[in-house]
Amino acid sequence: SVGIGGRPDLSGHVTLDACIMDSNSNCGSVACLEGIKHPISVARRVMDQTPHVMLVGQGAKDFALSCGFKHVKSPIKEVKKEWREWKRGNKEKFKKPTINSENHDTIGMLALDANGNLSGACTTSGWGYKLPGRVGDSPIIGAGLFVDNEIGAACATGMGEAVIRISGSHTVIELMRQGYTPQEACEEAVSRIISKHKNLDGLQVGFLALDKKGNYGAYSVFNGFNFALKTVNKSSLIDAGYNRRW
Ligand code: GLY
Repeated sequence: SVGIGGRPDLSGHVTLDACIMDSNSNCGSVACLEGIKHPISVARRVMDQTPHVMLVGQGAKDFALSCGFKHVKSPIKEVKKEWREWKRGNKEKFKKPTINSENHDTIGMLALDANGNLSGACTTSGWGYKLPGRVGDSPIIGAGLFVDNEIGAACATGMGEAVIRISGSHTVIELMRQGYTPQEACEEAVSRIISKHKNLDGLQVGFLALDKKGNYGAYSVFNGFNFALKTVNKSSLIDAGYNRRW
């Protein structure tokens, strides 16, 4: 459910969110961007070529076009077909996402380079059948992604509203600054989310963190969150620990 082929909002529009941050705390972000295939590349241009951090909606689209990105037809026909079928069967104002298939919907990437510098990116089409105009955590620096080159990098996936409520990725980094390992910091951030929500029904969130030495950690509210690890010697897919089984 990520990207231009991802699930649309309630009105059938696929709107994309993305952000990027480097080791010098440069950052760029786009939200509610329609009809552009690689929103993360537009976020990179915002970071590299403007004095701003975040562009949204039509302004983000106009900026992308001015940078030479091509407009692509959106939604693609498969998405339109699925949305029409969904619309016929659902009269609700919005749809609560199904854990792991509909709200585990974000690509977060953390990198440590050969010089020991950290960076990260986060991109999504967001909550399937969201209200038009809804923006989640993914394009918000400090929520969906945060990098502090002195400490570490963190990103989040899952229900963005819950991540924003605790400034999720920034919280993970600040916990690491206090001495938590990446794993302990992800677990503590998940605990805070759990403690702030009476009803955990449908509330999946996962955090991923990496420190300056290459130590990493990941943890989620419910089972079903996994992440890919790539080092010089190793490529693996790892199941994250979790607090609850659903
Ligand atoms: N984590 C993606 C979103 O809530 O939009």
